[in-house]
Amino acid sequence: MVKPRSHYVCQDCGAVAPKWAGRCEGCGAWNSLVEETIQSAPGGLSGGGLGGRARAGGKIAFVDLDSESPPRPRLTCGLAEFDRVTGGGLVPGSAVLVAGDPGIGKSTLLLQVAARMAAAGAACAYISGEESIDQVRLRARRMGLAKAPVQLASATSVRDMVASLDHPPDGLGGLAVVIVDSVQTLYIDSLESAPGTVSQVRAAAQELIRLAKKRGFSLLLVGHVTKEGLIAGPKVLEHMVDTVLTFEGDRGHHFRILRAVKNRFGPTDEIGVFEMTDEGLQEVANPSALFLAERRGNIAGAAVFAGLEGTRPLLVEIQALVSSSPLATPRRAVVGWDSGRLAMVLAVLEARCGLALAGQEVYLNVAGGLRIGEPAADLAVAAALVSAATGQEVPEQTVVFGEIGLSGEIRPVSQVELRLKEAEKLGFTRAWIAPRRKAPGKAPGKAEAKAAPAGPNAPAGGQGLAVEEIPHLQDLVARLTVPGLETPSLERHGRERGGPARPGRGQQAY
Ligand code: TYD
Ligand code: MG
Repeated sequence: MVKPRSHYVCQDCGAVAPKWAGRCEGCGAWNSLVEETIQSAPGGLSGGGLGGRARAGGKIAFVDLDSESPPRPRLTCGLAEFDRVTGGGLVPGSAVLVAGDPGIGKSTLLLQVAARMAAAGAACAYISGEESIDQVRLRARRMGLAKAPVQLASATSVRDMVASLDHPPDGLGGLAVVIVDSVQTLYIDSLESAPGTVSQVRAAAQELIRLAKKRGFSLLLVGHVTKEGLIAGPKVLEHMVDTVLTFEGDRGHHFRILRAVKNRFGPTDEIGVFEMTDEGLQEVANPSALFLAERRGNIAGAAVFAGLEGTRPLLVEIQALVSSSPLATPRRAVVGWDSGRLAMVLAVLEARCGLALAGQEVYLNVAGGLRIGEPAADLAVAAALVSAATGQEVPEQTVVFGEIGLSGEIRPVSQVELRLKEAEKLGFTRAWIAPRRKAPGKAPGKAEAKAAPAGPNAPAGGQGLAVEEIPHLQDLVARLTVPGLETPSLERHGRERGGPARPGRGQQAY
């Protein structure tokens, strides 16, 4: 039997199929299978290698965990937002993948990082496979970085890159950082598949990572993301690199978020916030102020969520709109949050609090283009929804956070103090929060005023923050219901079930 010479590889998940199919069996993606030639795989250890004889294995040296030599210092670029996301700077010999939508600003960010590191004395190489040298220079000049001693090259052949970087030219002695933009343009001439295919991307990255480990430079690879939000082609690439950073943002907004989704040398979920300006990306030291900047006073249907991104607190506004629908299945649209989670909050509001929004269209938006993944946002979402439905605003200068359980109970969240401190710093005066985990010896569930921290934005006089613990979703609904004025949805539901939801502390009802 003749062995097949090619197989079909899914460009989204890397699954291999012997025959072409319209849909990948591995990940369900449509039209993602591409024919690739099978490279002759090396035989097993027992098989005859070169010359038909198995080579005897060499001896591996084992050492203690506790090493004698101190680790080489990390390389920082001075952009605090970037350094924090990488976990305190780039580790020598590590590989970092920076992934993001095309046009989001990856090249801009990495050019700035390279320029700063080069200016600080590290030998930096920037290899672009997408843009010509003149294009990169033009951009550098526009950003005022033209004087930085970054070594620029335009190349796509991995063989050329490896040869040049293994024995770097004079300008690059003691090579510290190599930036390759982007991994989808790279090709290895011994492979027959086209650049950007899984096998090319995987093999190219492997070669460069091996060289980075051997020569001890930090490798920064740029990767584009597909429509579905996967790092194009290679999910496989995520396993190979030490750190995966995603660069996110909404094209309609000018700020961008760099997020660590995997980091072998630091915490994940850490974010850095940047603003895209005419002169490149600027760091945003106080992102909460930025996200709240466009807030238009107190309106019904808005609530401020005190969230947490990595180790840093972040305040953002959540907006909801509820309107009557002509459709049999009213529309639900969510931007910046999980739609499944919205469905859950709506269901709990209906089943446990008698606020039926089933016949209404519901729109939910996290202002500013941020994406929130925390369940702690549940209560803020519920506050925005209830406020939109009843027309009663959330009191001025109030932050909200807490996770909602299926029976309507509000569950404790982590890092309460950190969130409250950030709210206080930004001038908020009230917080509706989940009941805190009871510390032994403390009076539970009591509202308390915290001392104001010293800081430029601390409220004058330091009155602190009035903290109200909300034990059940009904308590939130009661706070946002106009007394004497029944909300249509509450009323309708009330008639069916014999009375609207009890206002006040709803302890008895559940
Ligand atoms: P770029 O870094 O080329 O994106 P990527 O490498 O992720 O594809 O960024 C392109 C966008 O950034 C482009 O739409 C223009 C904008 N931009 C600015 O607004 N200001 C600037 O100083 C630069 C360099 C780019
Ligand atoms: Mg680019």
